Amino acid sequence: MNKKFYLLTMLALTGLMICSTLILAVNSPAGTNPELKSIQLLPPQTDGGKPLMQVLKDRKSSREFGAEKLPPQILSNLLWAANGINRQDSGKRTAPSAVNWQEIDVYVAMAEGLYLYDAKGHVLKPVLAQDVRAATGRQEFVKDVPVNLIYVADFTRMGDVSAEEKVFYSAADTGFIAENVYLYCASEGLATVVRNLIDKPALSKIMKLRAEQRVILAQSVGYPKKQQ
Ligand SMILES: Cc1cc2nc3c(=O)[nH]c(=O)nc-3n(C[C@H](O)[C@H](O)[C@H](O)COP(=O)(O)O)c2cc1C
Repeated sequence: MNKKFYLLTMLALTGLMICSTLILAVNSPAGTNPELKSIQLLPPQTDGGKPLMQVLKDRKSSREFGAEKLPPQILSNLLWAANGINRQDSGKRTAPSAVNWQEIDVYVAMAEGLYLYDAKGHVLKPVLAQDVRAATGRQEFVKDVPVNLIYVADFTRMGDVSAEEKVFYSAADTGFIAENVYLYCASEGLATVVRNLIDKPALSKIMKLRAEQRVILAQSVGYPKKQQ
């Protein structure tokens, strides 16, 4: 192979690699940020927890949180409980979804950045290397809570139904995920509250969501504030 041909081939390959990286970045859920690394979550512990009736007795909303971060195992268990895969053969989830569309994505806002929960790999994918917690709600406490979950519907996964039905089903499907989080938190002694008081257009812009993606609800999770 002559030297000129070799150089041209290398140049073309480099150009191709740059283009495909750009295309991937534009098409990813919110433009994956290379500064923030993926977090491979620990395998979820699926054999513990309090008895169901006790959990139901303890389920509640709390709006006073401590600053303590969630340990890696608790974060893993929380996300699996929220909407993880509980049947490997079918890829179905801990929460039901209409027509098994699985249109709700769980984004995770923490101090170090914003991630997308990928249930298949049980991994947190980087989205933004930025602390967006303050933008996840209009209430004062949200900016300091260790974890704010943001439930986002992707209407492109919902088949040929009307816009009204998409709104209905995605809200219903989010409710199941939020309740799973409530139950896990009650079992684990964590504080949580599901929230609709959100400036959704502003948050969608910060998250760089596509037009077909809708913020449905957010949910704060942390340890309860210690009583003085
Ligand atoms: C769809 C929905 C939206 C909610 N939005 C908010 C909210 O924006 N902020 C908040 O502090 N609580 C919010 N809540 C929590 C309710 O206020 C709470 O569930 C209610 O007061 C009953 O309290 P409990 O959850 O302890 O039973 C919301 C609950 C639901 C189901």
